[in-house]
Amino acid sequence: MENLDWGKLGFGYIKTDYNVRCYFRDGKWGEIEACSSEEISIHMAATCLHYGQDAFEGLKVFRGKNGDIRVFRWEENAKRLISSAQGILMAEPPLELFLEMLERVVNLNERFIPPYGMGASLYVRPLLIGTGAQVGVNPAKEYLLILFVTPVGPYFKEGFKNVRMQIVRDVDRAAPLGTGRYKVGGNYAASLSSVVRGHDEGFGSVLYLDAKEKKYIDEAGPANFFGIKNNTYVTPDSTSILPSITNMSLRQLAQDMGLKVEQRHVPEEELSTFEEVGACGTAAVITPISEIVDRETGHSFKYAAEPGPICTKLYKQLQGIQYGEVEDTHGWVHIIK
Ligand code: PLP
Ligand code: COI
Repeated sequence: MENLDWGKLGFGYIKTDYNVRCYFRDGKWGEIEACSSEEISIHMAATCLHYGQDAFEGLKVFRGKNGDIRVFRWEENAKRLISSAQGILMAEPPLELFLEMLERVVNLNERFIPPYGMGASLYVRPLLIGTGAQVGVNPAKEYLLILFVTPVGPYFKEGFKNVRMQIVRDVDRAAPLGTGRYKVGGNYAASLSSVVRGHDEGFGSVLYLDAKEKKYIDEAGPANFFGIKNNTYVTPDSTSILPSITNMSLRQLAQDMGLKVEQRHVPEEELSTFEEVGACGTAAVITPISEIVDRETGHSFKYAAEPGPICTKLYKQLQGIQYGEVEDTHGWVHIIK
């Protein structure tokens, strides 16, 4: 791509050449179709429009140091999409279908993979929706799986720089036994008002507390939360957070570096004891946090303004594996030919 300024990309939508689609009809998945239109045509009574039968994924493809095309942990995303589909009664896309669509959409849009060294990647957005018509509250009989791609830079415009986060108490993103552990559109609808308000009030994003007791940190709007102290990587265990693949990877990398790993409830007051805190996710990668302000109590937890040593080490190791600069000892990267 001649006229894309790769180094200045943010996290947004840029039109590419193709998306790929597969329809589930009459109880089975059909042929994969490559499509150059950005539009879809669906029935006005489709369940995705009325009853929220809508799940999505997000994964990244990197141009490696040696020029290869590297996709990070696709199988985990495919498995999570299956779990989301099970959670809201949608047709489950098989792993092989997911991989075939992924390889097709990446190959068809190869010219949009940012060159190595630009701090950018090709973001893949799989979307699964109920397209069959229902007026009663029932699952659809027909589904559409689309994979589209868009080249992206950092999610938080600062890149690997610390952001401020706001704890909100007047909004819950997900109920303890609700859909928080699935990547379904409704969770993001529930988060929108508080996320936008947080931005307007000067924060990079918001942190939600557990909805039942309002005592424990759950996660950020678009990312999981972690804290570092006493050579330990601590991250919340909760039934209402999305099981982040980045967080899963960081727990492993932390262990590899000799840190202890704890996945458990994290009470808000424990925030004052962490040496470093951050948000992590595919889009966010690792975003270190410089301050957390509780919107209701006004309490502020302050951290360093610059990324701390452990966040930096984890970030370098993760990105090193993704870009092929560091050996992929866990077999997380799949090379697309
Ligand atoms: N939590 C939420 C609510 C998210 O939307 C995301 C993004 O996918 C994450 C966490 C991070 O998950 P992952 O690391 O799998 O991208
Ligand atoms: C991701 O990190 O892939 C996400 O989906 C986060 C956000 C863009 C919703």
